[in-house]
Amino acid sequence: MNIILGISGGIAAYKTPDLARKLTKSGHQVQAVMSHSAFQFVAPLALQAVSGRVVRSELFDAQAESAMDHIELARWADTILIAPATAHKIAQLTSGMADDLLTTLCLASTAPLVIAPAMNQQMWKHAATQENIKRLLERGIQLIGPAEGEQACGETGFGRMVEPEDIVSALQPHAK
Ligand SMILES: Cc1cc2nc3c(=O)[nH]c(=O)nc-3n(C[C@H](O)[C@H](O)[C@H](O)COP(=O)(O)O)c2cc1C
Repeated sequence: MNIILGISGGIAAYKTPDLARKLTKSGHQVQAVMSHSAFQFVAPLALQAVSGRVVRSELFDAQAESAMDHIELARWADTILIAPATAHKIAQLTSGMADDLLTTLCLASTAPLVIAPAMNQQMWKHAATQENIKRLLERGIQLIGPAEGEQACGETGFGRMVEPEDIVSALQPHAK
C-alpha cells in the first residue's frame, strides 16, 4: 500500500522512524508528512533514511510542487495514517481545516484515514477531544488506541500512542 505517514507534534513522534521502518519492512511505500510542530520531536532525516523518500511538510513548496504536487500526493495515497495524532490535529481534522500540508491532504484524498492519538491523559479525556473523536468515528475513520499507561509527563491514564508494531498489525488493508 502507498501510505502517507502523517506525523504531528507530540512527544511520541520520536517513535515514528521505527514505525516507518516497520511499515516499509511490511512491504508498504511510505511518504512521511510532518507538521511544523513535529520537527521539535523527530529529525526529518531519520524518516527520510528509513522511508527512502524526502519528507514533506510544506504546503507552499515550489520545488516539490513541480514534481508531485499536493493533489498528486493525495491521489497517490491508499491510506493516510496519522501517528502520533495530537489533540490539535484531531480538532483540525474534525472541523475540516486545511492550513498545513497534512490537513490539506486529508481533505483532498479519498484514502481511508487512520489515526493513532497520543497526548496527555487529561487532553484525551477532555470533552472537546472526545466529541471530536466521536465525530471522526461517525465519518468512518479507523482509530488505533490510545493505550493506557505511564506518560512522558509523569501522569498515568489513556493517551499513550500504541506501539509501532501494534499500529502496523492494526492497519487494515484498505482498498480505495
Ligand atoms: C514538550 C511538548 C510535548 C507535547 N506533546 C503533545 C502530545 O503528546 N500530544 C498532543 O496532542 N500535543 C502535544 N503538545 C502540544 C502540541 O505540540 C501543540 O498542540 C501543537 O500545536 C500541535 O501542532 P500539530 O497538531 O500541527 O502538530 C506538546 C507540546 C510540547 C511543548
